[in-house]
Amino acid sequence: MPDEWGQMTDHTIHAIRLSSVSRRYGAGDSAVTALDEVSLAFPRGTFTAVMGPSGSGKSTLLQCAAGLDRPTSGSVVVGGTELTGLSERRLTLLRRERIGFVFQAFNLLPSLTAAQNVALPLRLAGRRPSRSRVREALAQVGLADRGRHRPAELSGGQQQRVALARALITRPEVLFGDEPTGALDSRTGRDVLALLRGMVDREGQTVVMVTHDPVAAARADRVVFLVDGRPAGELAGADADAIATRMTRLEAAPC
Ligand SMILES: Nc1ncnc2c1ncn2[C@@H]1O[C@H](COP(=O)(O)OP(=O)(O)OP(=O)(O)O)[C@@H](O)[C@H]1O
Ligand SMILES: [Mg+2]
Repeated sequence: MPDEWGQMTDHTIHAIRLSSVSRRYGAGDSAVTALDEVSLAFPRGTFTAVMGPSGSGKSTLLQCAAGLDRPTSGSVVVGGTELTGLSERRLTLLRRERIGFVFQAFNLLPSLTAAQNVALPLRLAGRRPSRSRVREALAQVGLADRGRHRPAELSGGQQQRVALARALITRPEVLFGDEPTGALDSRTGRDVLALLRGMVDREGQTVVMVTHDPVAAARADRVVFLVDGRPAGELAGADADAIATRMTRLEAAPC
């Protein structure tokens, strides 16, 4: 059964695969095609950056890949599970258990402590989070001593690290970040990037991150460019200068 074998091989190699994914918003004259037949695969244990001009579809790509939004057409496969056609309930469960997401605005619950925020995904999944597991997750992001602090008592970089610990506590198949360093100063941003890089190198975590910053993108193994909802080339192992040059060229290209 070549199809079945083909698929098994694919999802041992790729944590996630998008095939001909389109996402259109609205209808008639005001319709917008945010993603236009995008096919991309993200190999396990690699760090991919997604770049492109504002409005090119980066956030839409991440939301569709993470099961936070549904494509208008096309297919998204996460670790061998096809998301298309999953019920809302199944999709929510898959998101909780197998996907981590960090945003530019850290999105922590202000009334909960750092430890409670980190434990939240396990609680939502109906599991009782052990103290040691939460402590370990906080230690992984260098915040072992901050578990009792509330978000308002933490710096921006510390809050983003709590958000990272929260996203990673379920040991997700893929960690998505939509401009995770966008609200941080460059030094704090570098610390968060070093953590992401470490998760990939040490734990084999798969990371997909949207960024506007060529220096941040240079920490990734591969940079995927999007223009007008379509892939517009890739760079592997490029430095910040090469990435910035490519971005300038893409932004200057006529629509
Ligand atoms: N809910 C929505 N309704 C209508 N149009 C939308 C919606 N969300 C996004 N769009 C449109 O889809 C396109 C892609 O948006 P998206 O947010 O994915 O871009 P982006 O690359 O993340 O941009 P930025 O760098 O500014 O964050 C844009 O033209 C946007 O206006
Ligand atoms: Mg965006």
